[in-house]
Amino acid sequence: MSNTIKSLEWRYAVKKFDASKSIGEENVEKLKKSFNLTATSYGLQPIKLVVVENKEVQEKLVSHSFNQAQVGQASHVLVLCVEKSVIKDSVNGYFDKVKAVRGTSDEIIEPYRNMMHTSFDNKSEEDIFIWSKHQAYIALGNLMTVCAIEKIDSCPMEGFIPEGYSEVLGLEKLNLIPVLVLPVGIRAEDDMFASFKKVRKEISESVIDIK
Ligand SMILES: Cc1cc2nc3c(=O)[nH]c(=O)nc-3n(C[C@H](O)[C@H](O)[C@H](O)COP(=O)(O)O)c2cc1C
Repeated sequence: MSNTIKSLEWRYAVKKFDASKSIGEENVEKLKKSFNLTATSYGLQPIKLVVVENKEVQEKLVSHSFNQAQVGQASHVLVLCVEKSVIKDSVNGYFDKVKAVRGTSDEIIEPYRNMMHTSFDNKSEEDIFIWSKHQAYIALGNLMTVCAIEKIDSCPMEGFIPEGYSEVLGLEKLNLIPVLVLPVGIRAEDDMFASFKKVRKEISESVIDIK
C-alpha cells in the first residue's frame, strides 16, 4: 500500500490528546506554511489562521466547543477564520502582489482585475462570506492531509460557537470570523477512538467511473 494511503488510514478525528506533549515548533511552522500554500479561488486567500498555544486560553475555548475536551488538551489549536475585508481592496492587493512578484505588466493584469471586480460586484456580502468559508474548508483538508503525512494528530471541528471563540480570542477587533477549528497534538495512549475501524462507504458507492 502507498505511504499516502497508509498515512490517511493512520489519521482519525482524535478525541483525546496527550496534554503533556507538544508537536514542536518545526511542525507548527510546517502547518503555517501549508495553510499559506493552500490553493484558493482566484488566489485571493480571504482566510486567516489563528494559532493558539496556551492551555488557559484553550480551556476557555472548551466551554465554547460543546465541552469537547480535545480543544483543551491539544498541543496547539488552529482556528481558521474568514477575513472581513473589503473585497475590492483584496482584489487590488492581490494584483499589486502579482505585479511585484512576477513583474507582470498592467496591460496583462488590467483585464483580469476588471473581470474580478465585476464578478464580485455582482455578489452580496453573504455570498462573499460563503465563498470565503469554502476556501477555509480547502485549507482544513490541506492541513489534515499534511498532519497525516507528518504524523501529527488532529481533529477537524465544526462543533464550536463562533461568537464564544471570537470573544475569548479577540477576533472581532482583528476583523476575523472563526469558521473551523483544528486542534493538533499527539494522541493520548488511551484514546479508544484510535483503535476504531474506519467507517466508510465502499469505493464503488462513493466513486463513479466514466470511461
Ligand atoms: C468539517 C468537519 C467537522 C467536524 N466536526 C467535528 C467536531 O466538532 N467534533 C468531533 O469530534 N469531530 C468532528 N469531525 C470529525 C468527523 O466526525 C470524522 O472526521 C468522521 O466521522 C470520520 O472519522 P475519522 O476522521 O476518524 O476517519 C468533523 C469532521 C469534519 C470534516
